[in-house]
Parts: sequence; structure tokens; C-alpha cells
Amino acid sequence: MTKITHFYQTFQPEHYNLYLAVDRAAKQISGQTTITGTATTAEIAIHQKELQIKTVTLAGQAVPFAVDNEIDALKITLPAAGKVTLTIDYTAVLTDTMMGIYPSYYEVDGVQKQLIGTQFETNFARQAFPCVDEPAAKATFDLALKFDEQPGETVLSNMPEERCENGIHYFATTVRMSTYLIAFAFGDLQSKQTTTKSGVKVGVFSTKAHAAKNLEFALDIAKRSIEFYEDFYQTPYPLPHSWQLALPDFSAGAMENWGLVTYREAYLLVDPDNTALETKQLVATVIAHELAHQWFGDLVTMQWWDDLWLNESFANMMEYVAIDALEPQWHIWELFQTSDVPAALQRDATDGVQSVHVAVENPAEIDALFDGAIVYAKGARMLVMVRALIGDDALRAGLKQYFTDHKYGNATGADLWAALGNAAGLDVGTIMNSWLEQPGYPVVTAAVQAGDLILSQAQFFIGAGTDQKRLWQIPLHSNYQAVPQLLTQKTVNLGNYAALQKAEGQPFRLNVGNNSHFIVHYDDTLLTAILAQAETMDAISQLSLLQDLNLLAESGRITYGAVVPLLPKFANSSVSIVNAVLYQIANNLKKFVTPETTGASNLKAFYDQLSQTQVARLGWTAQPGETNDDQLTRPYVLQAALYGENKAAIQAAHELYQTHGAEPGRLPAAIRGLILANEIQHFNSEALFHKLLTAYGQTADASYKQDLCQALTKTKDTQQLTQLVAAFENASIIKPQDLRAWFRGVLANPKGQQAAWDWIRQDWAWLEKTVGGDMEFTTYITVIARIFHTPQRLTEFKAFFEPKLQTPGLTREITMDTTVIESRVALIQEQRKEIERELERDKRRVDFEHSLD
Ligand code: BES
Ligand code: ZN
Repeated sequence: MTKITHFYQTFQPEHYNLYLAVDRAAKQISGQTTITGTATTAEIAIHQKELQIKTVTLAGQAVPFAVDNEIDALKITLPAAGKVTLTIDYTAVLTDTMMGIYPSYYEVDGVQKQLIGTQFETNFARQAFPCVDEPAAKATFDLALKFDEQPGETVLSNMPEERCENGIHYFATTVRMSTYLIAFAFGDLQSKQTTTKSGVKVGVFSTKAHAAKNLEFALDIAKRSIEFYEDFYQTPYPLPHSWQLALPDFSAGAMENWGLVTYREAYLLVDPDNTALETKQLVATVIAHELAHQWFGDLVTMQWWDDLWLNESFANMMEYVAIDALEPQWHIWELFQTSDVPAALQRDATDGVQSVHVAVENPAEIDALFDGAIVYAKGARMLVMVRALIGDDALRAGLKQYFTDHKYGNATGADLWAALGNAAGLDVGTIMNSWLEQPGYPVVTAAVQAGDLILSQAQFFIGAGTDQKRLWQIPLHSNYQAVPQLLTQKTVNLGNYAALQKAEGQPFRLNVGNNSHFIVHYDDTLLTAILAQAETMDAISQLSLLQDLNLLAESGRITYGAVVPLLPKFANSSVSIVNAVLYQIANNLKKFVTPETTGASNLKAFYDQLSQTQVARLGWTAQPGETNDDQLTRPYVLQAALYGENKAAIQAAHELYQTHGAEPGRLPAAIRGLILANEIQHFNSEALFHKLLTAYGQTADASYKQDLCQALTKTKDTQQLTQLVAAFENASIIKPQDLRAWFRGVLANPKGQQAAWDWIRQDWAWLEKTVGGDMEFTTYITVIARIFHTPQRLTEFKAFFEPKLQTPGLTREITMDTTVIESRVALIQEQRKEIERELERDKRRVDFEHSLD
């Protein structure tokens, strides 16, 4: 493969004049780009991809050029090095790849419409205009835009429009910024707008397929997030406006284009009259994430993609910091504990995982870097450790310095550690580099040996792993005074356990708060002491105890026999995060039982038993003024009751469906998916299936769409499943942006698995062509690996994917996912009997108790 060099080394652009004419009807773009910059050699290269370059001129004179598609280059031979102004004329086609400049499709009142938008991260600006498409190549931009405009259409970009002449929209010159943050959009839009305390205009834009009130929630969160960051970062928002735009077709979740943030509709629009609290929290954190980037990422940008974590880990932490300040009663950090934390702990336990900081050059591999569980979740967890170590005052002071030093420029991880370290008077870099540069994380074993309490660290693996004797600098956060702040060695002896225990008067614990990225393996003595008081521990402690035990069981370090009996002890908790982890673990048990066996029916009985009291307590209808915990817990326990095939629950869900049957979309959003799935599973008919599939096509409400997808993929009717698989490639039914959820649903359905698996193997080339270039692509493989658990599927997985091992961007995913399935198959073999025994025992215990009633 050709070596990829950074084009910025030979040519440093200062300013771009971009002219773009988009013809939607003809799907054609023609453009002229004028770049002023400094060439350090006469031979320079500029990025372009899939552009038809017509001419390159310098002061009116044509200059020789050549296109090298292998490295996305336009190579230009200048008369001499020095400051130049180059003009490039080109054309391009408008394609449906959700990259570069692309159309989104939607319907209003049965009329087909489109909206043009852009997606340039990571390296798709080069598909819209020739440019040095690297994050360090910052420049200013003047955009002029023309299109086949209809009366009433809105056109947006990073900066406000300055004037419109002869149908050309001219936007104000941008600040110095990276190409991947340029954005524009036009179409028939509606908006809601407001102004922040400091005078920044804030707006939310969407198509007119949505009720205007659905823009309000986002507007409020966006406005207050900007106000929060201006204060927290002590750095003003530098642009006149901050637009949030929902695009009907969107490959990622959201994108932080400076001044024009784009979102999937699901992550921006909220129906104020029927939206689950969980969905509101998610939307709020997504908005806060993208707005955190307006400073961290946009104002100061990573030098190169290897420091991508600097953008994403940071924004991922800040979304929680911001929302915790805006909506303190949400306890949003609890969401971090039930989403990011388990994702990071699970994925980072697989040998072959990437480190948070990864060297990278190839564009395809740059996109594969966006591993949500590592760059986002583990990275955020890493920064949470830093925040806990240095405190918010030092964090804010350090950030202020960081923004002052690097604004409108670039930075590396070392720059951040230096700024934070200076503010805190602590060598943050040394501590953090052990987390940043090494893949994986440690399990700390706490054991009483010969009377002494000994701690030791070793890398934690689920499945096969080669111990490379890695050591981490672990913030231990113990409740015992004698424990050092950091464990930096392999082991430490804390002295006589009995004496320590007597002095402290409580069970010994590590990682209190669950803010450090490690798990704890207590020996029997220590665990027994903790379990004796577990039911009165705070919720985070309960969560981390259960979560760690579950991971230990998955790794084979302990058996499930030690975990399953604990679940009923926590089943009546009124705290939603305890229920969340409890049902995550219960969910994990499903793979151990074979459908339609005694094991499977015992597991169902176990679920029914776990959920019974809470179902009775919470019921199906939200009570006015009920706690957030109750709102968030209800779906967990109802889902468990339905999985447990509790007759009363099935009936109650059915009745709810019937009362809303005319308009299922109006079912309470928090439990709508469950009710629809129940209907499809137990009361299915051709008419029902058709009705829900039609509703899917007609509704503009993304969260209702998700519920319908969740329900329809649960059908037991193989013909209906075949019909769904046939719709996978029909964008007028299933948009490519939503396909992965459909694929996952059918693949997870035992009756549909073969069809979905056959489809992806047969039509891999189609999939690659349709969503291949984007960050979500490798996650199709992840989805498969999360579901497969039999030796036969393992063999088939390997047969299909091993020949693809050399595909750039896929290597790591295929290798890791093979390990994931292998270790699951082995685990099931080892533990199935024991789990079946546990469930049998539990069933007998429950039957016995009932016989006493
Ligand atoms: N910068 C990313 C979006 C992105 C990632 C675009 C990779 C292109 C390639 C954005 O800030 C982001 O992180 N989006 C998330 C949602 C977020 C709230 C976690 C996403 O798209 O999943
Ligand atoms: Zn981000």
C-alpha cells in the first residue's frame, strides 16, 4: 500500500473561497475552490475524492496536475514554492452515501421531499471540495452556495448568510477551523430560536414532517448547555450562532460542525407530550456532547486522528458534567454507570482491543477508530478518573489555560495533561499514560493471606488473553484509610486484616463510587463481609458489586453459581440503576439455555419471580409525580414479566394495546415497545403485522419507529421474517441509517437468525457499498458477535470473516469478535450445567414458598 503522508507538510492553506452549485434534480455538483496558502515545495498535493477536476489555475494560468485516487490526491506542480492562490474547477455527483454532500429523504403529507446536508468527519470534505483535509490544516473559509432553490427554502451554514445575489448565498467568513467541521444544509425547514445570556443565537431546525413543539426541548437544552460551557470553560462561544439541525438520513448519531451541529432526528426531536424520561436524557446528553465539542474539538482540535480520544473522550465526559448541572434531579451520572461503564468494561476485557490512543494513518482505519466502548466510554472513564484526582477547580483552571494556549489551533494529549497537571500541581500525564497507551484494564485481587490484607493487579481478560505483565496506576478509592491513593506496583501488603477491620468497623471496599477503570476480585472472607451488608449499601456500590461479579463469572474466575442467587436479593430495589444491572446480568443468562427446554422455562420462571413484586408495585401506568427511579424501573420489570411469560402481564399489555389500537403511537412511550412486541409475540396476525409495518413507514417519530422495529423483528412467523429481510435493501421501507437495528432484531430472533445471517453473507458487497465508508460499518460485525453463541455459528463466522481479515478497518474487529464468540462458546460449555442447576434450585425454592402460602 502507498504510504500516506500528511499533505499539510507541503502545502499550508490559509483561506478558501468555496463556490458550490448543487443541482438536486440532476444529482450534480459543480464547484470552484480558490485556495490561498503557502507551498513549501513546488510539488504539492491536495485532497480530493471522486471529484472530476477540470482545471487548476494559478494567476489565470493553467498549471499541470494529476489525480492519484489511491491516496485521494490532486497533485499539482507549481512553478515554484512560496505563497500561491490556486483555483480549481471541478464537478461531482450527489450520492446517497451519507458522506460528503448528500440528500436526506422524507415525506410530508404523502409528498416525497429531500433535504441536502453534509457530513465531513472524518475525511469527507475532500468529496465536496479539494482541500488539505487534515485536522491540523486550519484555515478560514468563505462559502458561496447556489442550488435549484424553491421559494421558502432555508439555507444554513457554520456562519450567518451575509447576502444573496443572483441566487447565490454568501456566508460570512469563518474563523480559523478544520475542514471536517465545515457544514451546510438547505431545504424546506422549520425552526425555533432563542438567544443565550451572552447573545449567541441558538436555533433548532427540522423538516416540516414534525410538530413544531418537538423542537422545544432541544432548544432549551442547547441554550443552557452553551451558557453552562461558557461559564465552565471560562471561554466565550466564538460564533454568532449555534444551529442544531435534525437530518432524516444520518450515518452517525450527531456531528459537531462548528455553528451547525447535525443530528439524527432521534437524537434531537422530542415530543413533549409522549417521550420516555430515558429518551429525554439521551437527547440531552447528545446535545451536550456536541456542544462540548464546540470548544473541545472545534476551537482546539486534535493535531491528528491518533488523538481522536482527545475530542471524543472529553466530550463524552462533559455531556454528563453539563447535564448534571442543568438537570441535577436526573442524577445523570447514573446513566454513565449503566451505559458507558459496562460497555467499556466488557469490550476492554477482550484481548486485541485497541488502546484509547492509537497510531493511525489509513483513512479507512481512521473511521474504525471510533470504537464507542473504548474511545468514548473508556476514554470518558479515564477523564472521570482525572477529574476525581484533581477536582473541578483545577479542571476548570487547566481547561481555561488549554483553550487560551491552543485556540484556533491544535493540540495533543500531552498538551492537555500538561495544562491539567500545572493547574493541579500533579503529574497527571504519568498517571494517565498507563491508561491511555495500554489496552485493557486490571482486576485488583483483594485477599487475606496469612492474616494480611494483600492487593495485587493483573490484566483482566474475558476469553483467551496473553498476559503481558502490564501495570496500571490505579486510583483505588478505598473506604479504608490505610490504602494508598494509587496502586502503582503489582502488589501491596496493607498489613493485618483483623486490625484494619477493627479500626474501620465496616467491610473492606475498593473503587467506591465506581469511578476508576478496574474491577475487584474479593476473596471469600472479604466478599462474605460485604454481602452481609450488601442490601443496605448505596446504589452505586450495589451496582459495581454485581457488575464486577458478573464480569468475573464471564471470565471464568468465579462461577455463575456465586452470582445467580444474589439477583433475588436486589430484585425489589427501588433504584433504577440497580434494576438496570440486575437485568443486564439476567439477560446474560439467556445464552446458557436452549429455547424450548426445561432450562429455558426455568429461566422464564426466574424472571417472573424476580419482577413480580415490582410489577405489582409499579403497575403499567405512570403515576402523577412518581420518582424518576420508578419511571425508569418500570420498563425493566415489565419487560422481565413479559419475558417470564407472566399471564397477567401478557394480558395487561394486550389490553393496553387494544385501548390504543387505533393509534398505537400514542401508547405511553416508555413501555410502547414492550406492548407492541407483546402483541406481535402473542396476538400476531397478518393484519397486525401489516398495520405496524405501515405505521413504521408513515410515522416521522423516530422513537416510535424504534419501538416498531423492536416489535416487528420479534415475530415468530417465518414468512413475515422473510418479508422483513427482503426490506433490508429497500430504502423506501428501511433507511440505511436504521438498518443495523433491524438486522440485529432479526438475527437475535431464533426464528429469523438463519435468514438474517444468510442475508449479510450473501449481500456483504451491497452492505459495504451502502454503509461501508462510515463509522458504523464495523459494528455490524460487533452485532453478530454479541448474538452468536454456538460452536456451529462460530465456525460459520470464522469461515465468512477470516478471508476478510486484511480489509483495512476490519482487521481488529474480526479478530476481537472471533475471540468474543470463542470465549462465549467455551463459557457456555463450562457453565451451562451449573446455571441450569441454579435455576432449577431457585424454581424449587419458589415452588416450596408458594406451597406454604
Ligand atoms: N464527532 C462525532 C461524530 C462522528 C464520529 C462523525 C465519527 C464521523 C465519524 C460526534 O461528536 C459524536 O461523537 N457522535 C456520537 C453521538 C454522541 C452523543 C456519543 C455518535 O455519532 O455516535
Ligand atoms: Zn463526539
